[in-house]
Amino acid sequence: MKELFIGNYGVEQVGQRLTAKGWVANIRNHGKLAFIELRDREGILQVFADSTIADFEKLHDLHKESILAVTGEVVARDERFVNPHIKSGQVELRAEKIDIIADSKALPFELDNHAHAGEEIRQKYRYLDLRREKMTSNLKLRHQVTKAIRNYLDQADFIDVETPYLTKSTPEGARDFLVPSRVFKNQFYALPQSPQMLKQLLMGAGLERYYQIVRCFRDEDLRGDRQPEFTQVDLEMSFVSEEDVRQLVEGMLKAVVKASRGIDMLDDFPTISYAEAMRRFGSDKPDTRFAMELKDLTELSKGNPSLFLQKGLKKANGAVLGICAKGAASAFTNRQMAALKQSVMDFGVAGFATATVENGQITGSLKSTFKEHNAQLLDLFGAEDGDLIFFATGSLKRVQEALGALRLKLAKDLELIDERQLNFLWVTDWPLLEWNEDLGRYQAMHHPFTQGAFEEGSNWQENPEKIMSRAYDIVLNGYEIGGGSLRIHERSVQEAMFELLGMKKADYERDFGFFLEALDYGFPPHGGLALGLDRLVMILAGEENIREVIAFPKNGQGADPMLESPSFVGEHQLADLRLDLRD
Ligand code: AMO
Repeated sequence: MKELFIGNYGVEQVGQRLTAKGWVANIRNHGKLAFIELRDREGILQVFADSTIADFEKLHDLHKESILAVTGEVVARDERFVNPHIKSGQVELRAEKIDIIADSKALPFELDNHAHAGEEIRQKYRYLDLRREKMTSNLKLRHQVTKAIRNYLDQADFIDVETPYLTKSTPEGARDFLVPSRVFKNQFYALPQSPQMLKQLLMGAGLERYYQIVRCFRDEDLRGDRQPEFTQVDLEMSFVSEEDVRQLVEGMLKAVVKASRGIDMLDDFPTISYAEAMRRFGSDKPDTRFAMELKDLTELSKGNPSLFLQKGLKKANGAVLGICAKGAASAFTNRQMAALKQSVMDFGVAGFATATVENGQITGSLKSTFKEHNAQLLDLFGAEDGDLIFFATGSLKRVQEALGALRLKLAKDLELIDERQLNFLWVTDWPLLEWNEDLGRYQAMHHPFTQGAFEEGSNWQENPEKIMSRAYDIVLNGYEIGGGSLRIHERSVQEAMFELLGMKKADYERDFGFFLEALDYGFPPHGGLALGLDRLVMILAGEENIREVIAFPKNGQGADPMLESPSFVGEHQLADLRLDLRD
């Protein structure tokens, strides 16, 4: 075993005769002398070899990424040659003996950090891609984060408990990955979308504080922040209030930021209600690193005869909203403006228009529409000459979501975001249910085990969409990094919840009978939360895709190009499982 990683060699080693083992990151062979950049997981060490040593000729056709063992003396570099960019930059190793431990073929792509090898080839040769400094440092960061989490939860008396992966479908909202059973004919296990019910049952088991850093599986459309298998920091606590859970998680996240970035976050994370987040930012996970908030022009537009406004107001829950991009009047070409318009229209809004501000006047196609309200509008948006205002009309939720997405796009294009900032935000006061048009029924906004915030004595079944929940999400820089709630712990309430979701007694008894029964045996009040670990590490690493912080991720189609998975299986395996394949 190495006593010291070669990337960590420094002045303390000067004068020592050591054997450095690592990969050849680069070699410059000048014929009479050669410089080799030898790399291990902690960094680069410069090796100097001159042609007087017997092994010099081994360097002639040495390939990059071959592994060497170089024995020699560590010497201080001349002042002029100190490299401040690498840890070992003050020293170099004077080679006396060089052994080639393992040769490398020519590489399928350059490992240089700035080289943009295609995603597919990087994943096919993931073990090479992970040798890149950035990737190694992402994995180290992930390790630091999980270590900080484990330390924090350990000190707060949490017990780490594993739950099974071969389990039963839970209603988290996505499609399940199914695993056929060989023993039980025509029956399937489901891989857990999360250990939700099991962690609640651990509260029923009296463990009081549980956590697990656990893999979850969801067969859903993939995005930059979604993988079919991902990792949650899953936790659950008994006898707690919403504030207890939130305080604990907040403390944990602050410990993570301290461990990974060295920053002390002293202020409480801000809290915003779901309704306010939608109203001001058009998103339930607002990025608060920049302002550019949505403004509501609905009231002001009501008597206005403009067709543009009336078309939108006619829609169910019709609204007129706008956002103002400061100083952006000439930031976009016509083509870019057309693309922005299309991106807004794709949300199903009724109308979209833009205006610039010139000489204190709103100009463009809406000039006459807002003639009477010019001053009021400028005041509302805080708009000045040179600003660009976007308007959208239609059903409130669609317009909010459309402008929420436009807000993010504009912030990126106009470079309004300070990338160093970490803006955590709690989103609270969620509705318990939302109407699902396709299914023609309510569905749980979080999941069916979330407690409603019922008013004492209210007949909540009568007006389901008005019921609020005891759920909370934690957002970081515009990403939902976690969500949780206080849970239902009474059987009658859990049954009522299933019924609100349109389930028949026979169905929920069949699917959740074991869980409902557990609630009959002295079940404590409890609540918890799950953090998306991949997303958290992605943001801390400054990456934009969670693949970059996962050692062996799936590609955009959910496949692994290295393992070539998924793959066909042999007839005998199918026969064991009694499966017939269809085309
Ligand atoms: P939820 O479904 O909100 O809650 O998931 C918790 C967090 O997990 C992360 N996440 C994902 N990360 C990567 N890829 C995915 N496909 C993916 N899906 C979710 C998100 C999300 O905030 N059982 C509840 C938690 C609870 O109530 O305690 C649950 O799973 O960051």
